[in-house]
Formats: sequence, structure tokens, C-alpha cells
Amino acid sequence: MITLTTTPLHLHYGVKIHDLQLADIDLHNGYPEVRSKFEEESVLYFPDQQIDDTTHLRVCSFFGPREDRSASNSSPDPLVSTLSNVNDDGGVYGTNESQVLSLRSNMHWHTDSTFMPIPALTNMLIARVVPASGTATQFVSTRIAWREMPDALKARARGCAFRHHYAHSRQKTDREFAQSKTFWQWEAQTWKSIWTNPVNQQEALYIASHVFDVVGMEQHSGHALVEELLDWCTQDRFIYEHQWQPGDVLLWDERATLHRGIPWNYDEPRTLTSVCVSATTADGLDEIRVHDAVSDATYSLPPFDSSTKPADRRSGSVS
Ligand SMILES: [Fe+2]
Repeated sequence: MITLTTTPLHLHYGVKIHDLQLADIDLHNGYPEVRSKFEEESVLYFPDQQIDDTTHLRVCSFFGPREDRSASNSSPDPLVSTLSNVNDDGGVYGTNESQVLSLRSNMHWHTDSTFMPIPALTNMLIARVVPASGTATQFVSTRIAWREMPDALKARARGCAFRHHYAHSRQKTDREFAQSKTFWQWEAQTWKSIWTNPVNQQEALYIASHVFDVVGMEQHSGHALVEELLDWCTQDRFIYEHQWQPGDVLLWDERATLHRGIPWNYDEPRTLTSVCVSATTADGLDEIRVHDAVSDATYSLPPFDSSTKPADRRSGSVS
């Protein structure tokens, strides 16, 4: 049994964990304490980590199975994902190249992998190369936002089911980019709007930029509700912004947060590494599934709207 020394990241959620090297923990020593903080705090920050890819994978394995996106691909995905604007020659990709469009797509508020048949429980993100001018990721707690939500809005969201599709969030950045087969390998996924943590029974709104429809609602009304909910959850007062330093590790609860990347100077290289862990029955996954034929609706890109402003053209984001 170890005692974790922590300081808050935000008034209502998130902690910085001091004096702990993730490389030193194992399933029975250190992990139980970290997992307990994860359930309660939703966002964990570990500074100054000495952590290679092998240790990254090992620590993630304590949380559950590594997410595998290779099932529908012709080639296997890497064990550790690299989120970077650095090209093979050591330079940086242009802002409209697919590698950067992918990073920029993550600047919409989201939680990871809601478009997959098994969504993520957590993502462990490590800063490897940080621009001198800085780079940041923002979080909000959808547990706190839900707790403080006006009753009238809560009543409209409770009992809903949201349909998610990978291409929907991508078309918000670049419509042509969204047509890549990468974003069409999974059918639309439908999840209940509330994810109740099975350990502490805390409810959180489960929503993302991947949501394109609300089951049983007329499309326009569904979009309006989703936008209203996202606007509520992403108010400044709910935001924790993390300014990355090399060696930083962030680990967050996908069930109870939203996050987005913040633009940085694209002329500077930035590299983060990421491992997502899939949610399991023990994490409450079965309770958010929607067993309903109507949930199988297919997704198609919305009609082109020339008045829609594309995402920031000069810069990108992190997952
Ligand atoms: Fe992400």
C-alpha cells in the first residue's frame, strides 16, 4: 500500500500525482492506488516520467485490454500510437496534409473511440517532443458538468441515446479528408447518454464530437440538443488546460470527460505517444449499450454547408 501525494488540477476534478514513477508500479503495488484516484478524479497527471514504450504498454495493461483498431484494416496498427507532425525527413508536415488534418480533427471536444464497437476506458498520453512555444490539451469533467446542469436540460438529456460515427467529427475539419476509408471502417455506434461509474455510482454525460444523431429525435432537434449539451459542458469554468512538458504523462477517464487539442505553432515539431485501453463490463460498458434495431441507422455526410467555418487552418491538436 502506497500513499499518493497529490495536488488538484481543477477545483472539482483532476490531480497531479507527485513523487511516483509509473515505471515502478505493478498490478498489486501502486496500480490499485492509481486506479482509485482515476475513478474519483477522472484526470491524472504524472510529471517527469521516465517511461519507454514497453512500460507505457505495461502500465496500460493494468487498466484493461489495449484498444486494437487493426481488425478492419489491412495492416496491423502500432502497439503505441504516435501523434506527431514530424515527417520522415525530420521536417514537419503541412497543415493540410492528412497527418496534420488528423491531429487538427482532435481539436473538437470529444472522448476517444466512441465510434468503435468497444469504446475506450482511458488514454495514456505521453509528451515526447514539445514545441518551445508550448502546446496544450484541454479537459472538462462531464461528471461535474452533469451534476451542475439545470434540471430542465438534464431532463431532456436523460434517457437519450446518441449515435456516433468517426467521419462525422472529421468532416467538421475537412470534408474531403472525412471521406478517407479510415473513417468508414465502423458502422455507427449507439450509446446511452449517461455513463454511471460502477465503482462510485457517479453519473456523467457521455457525448462527443462524433455524435451525429439522437435516437428518436428529428435530426435538427437532435443536433440542437447535442450542441446545447456540449456548450454547457465546455464552459470555461469546467476546463482544465494542461501545458505539456517533456516527460509528462496524462491519463484520463473517457467515461467522464471531454478533451480537445489546442493549436500550436505548426512550424515546430511536436510528438506525443498514446495508448488507449478499451472499456469492459467491469467499467460499466454493458449498461450504456443500446439493444435496439433503430440504433443501427447508417451515417452519411451532412449536406455541404459553405457557411461552415473550417477548423483552425494554421495549426493542429492532440488526441
Ligand atoms: Fe482524443
